Amino acid sequence: MIIHHVSKQNSILNKFIAEIRDENIQKDALRFRTNIERMGEIISYELSKTLNYKSKDITTPLGVKPMKVLDDKVVLASILRAGLPLHMGVLHIFDDAENAFISAYRFHPDNSDEFSIQVDYIATPAIQDKVLVLVDPMLATGQSLVAVYEKLLQFGKPKKLHIISIIGSKQGMDFVSQKLPEDTHLWIADFDEKLNDKGYIVPGLGDAGDLAYGKKL
Ligand code: URA
Repeated sequence: MIIHHVSKQNSILNKFIAEIRDENIQKDALRFRTNIERMGEIISYELSKTLNYKSKDITTPLGVKPMKVLDDKVVLASILRAGLPLHMGVLHIFDDAENAFISAYRFHPDNSDEFSIQVDYIATPAIQDKVLVLVDPMLATGQSLVAVYEKLLQFGKPKKLHIISIIGSKQGMDFVSQKLPEDTHLWIADFDEKLNDKGYIVPGLGDAGDLAYGKKL
């Protein structure tokens, strides 16, 4: 796996990461979602430098200019519901992308801390020979990401896999490195050392889905 730790070089991205982690600023759900969208845009710009381009003649009112335009077909896939703001940010940049939505959740038998990943809804285009960009804001254990990737393979084998994530754990990054194809690119804004016994990243930011969309039952 090729890991791009996008905040390693200081940039305005760091301000957005600091704001989504800050428990006071987190009270503003609109700001939380907007910051995640903005991070999706910044990371997508970096990712776009690794894609394939072709020449296309563009006619202006005054002449013709050959320009390099994206040649890859991109499918953006997100896990509901926490992935939605990040998905929208990425889609602002890859605005011709096709889109896939998957519902996956942690199933805790007997209310224990142990869980398995249940994937029960997939709406996706064909992904054969396309560039699959899997979007997941919190790469905690990595189990849902891998479960979703494996389900998506029923709809074709992508030419290349990119993962976009905002905050990861070392454990989650190691897990996906082992399970996903070797030439996968992981674009991660930041990562932390620890997971708690409920599988949350520490210090992380809390529950990204609740912060974006409110608490659920
Ligand atoms: N999902 C979240 O929203 N936060 C975590 O820390 C881990 C998974």
